[in-house]
Amino acid sequence: MRLGRLLMASAAALGLAGVAAQAQEQVEVLHWWTSGGEAAALNVLKEDLQSKGIGWQDMPVAGGGGEQAMTVLRARVTAGNPPTAVQMLGFDIRDWAEQGVVADLSETAKAEGWGEVVPEALQFFSTYDGAWIAAPVNVHSTNWIWANKQIFDELGLAEPTTWDELIAALDKIQEAGHVALAHGGQAWQDATIFDAVVNATGGIEFYKAALVDLDPDALGSDTMKEVFDRMAKLRTYVDDNFSGRDWNLATAMVIEGQAGMQMMGDWAKGEFLNAGKQPGEDFLCFRHPGTQGTVTFNTDQFVLFQVGEEQRDAQIELAKSIMAPSFQSAFNVVKGSVPARTDVPGDAFDACGKKAIGDLAEANANGTLYGSLAHGHGAPASVKNAIYDVVTAHFNGEYDSATAVEELVNAVAAAQ
Ligand code: BGC
Repeated sequence: MRLGRLLMASAAALGLAGVAAQAQEQVEVLHWWTSGGEAAALNVLKEDLQSKGIGWQDMPVAGGGGEQAMTVLRARVTAGNPPTAVQMLGFDIRDWAEQGVVADLSETAKAEGWGEVVPEALQFFSTYDGAWIAAPVNVHSTNWIWANKQIFDELGLAEPTTWDELIAALDKIQEAGHVALAHGGQAWQDATIFDAVVNATGGIEFYKAALVDLDPDALGSDTMKEVFDRMAKLRTYVDDNFSGRDWNLATAMVIEGQAGMQMMGDWAKGEFLNAGKQPGEDFLCFRHPGTQGTVTFNTDQFVLFQVGEEQRDAQIELAKSIMAPSFQSAFNVVKGSVPARTDVPGDAFDACGKKAIGDLAEANANGTLYGSLAHGHGAPASVKNAIYDVVTAHFNGEYDSATAVEELVNAVAAAQ
């Protein structure tokens, strides 16, 4: 027997032929799901693909909101070596589609009927020029507060429904010797709170005018000054070590009972669950006071880059797996988000998840569903980053509220 044949025969005997074939079917996935809860959710996807014989090459880039991941992506694409699939948010998806470097998923989307089950607000980001260019895995939202139930019970606190009740609760928690507000001083985290405070202070129409339509009158209004005053007030409830802290470490402060509340998107729930905590027993989830009935959303979508033909099958399999109803349920139960498809039953979700599903459907029906500015769904990255700078500078005391309003108007105008 010639050597080649001999090797093939022994490989087959050892079952290696199958392994070699599988090794070629591989996806390299760039993402920023590096916290405990996020990694647990990502595992659901990895395992799903592995069960279909597709290997996973992990390309994690830490940093909520995905700014650092997008920097790495730019470098990879510029070097002519894009990853197979990339976690992406909102306007970034459209920007990459415009560059003509992303794969067209229209054929799969049509065959699988994505258009009938994905809400239009999400499709705006999954399609470009009539073609499907992303597979949405979930819907998160930013107008949430996460609270330690034991602290609330001990202090006799009810879930606040107005700004005044929120402040009274924060005061009580602080007086009792806890950190009232767990927060990490990173621009995207400051902006996540800003999303909710703009909505709570001016209402969702004001949110839309200021952070989606970028109306200079709304941006420069007295209401916006009040927003900044409220941000300054919230700043008084964070601890001295907040600067630079990662969001999941802030969530851990609430989980461990060092802090009373965190204002964060519902990926925070993934951390509570990963720590073995139960909603209603160990922690509370409620909408930022004044925003019930509205949702500022962000949807994680996977964009497939144009890579060699040999990776095309694995890419399509990844997209199909992401969109499968059973996967959307299993993944989002762990991630803290809700399915991107409207036809996935909510049975497997906990109380916070069921509330999120109901709130999303209600906001979608009532026209009170808008993209999160902080997470790239309000305005393109240039504007988002300009707003980040102003919000963070103000949060750190560099501007008073009146100056912040002026800077906001100027920064948004310059960034467009
Ligand atoms: C993403 C979430 C992620 C969070 C923190 C957000 O921008 O949409 O999926 O969990 O950042 O990393």
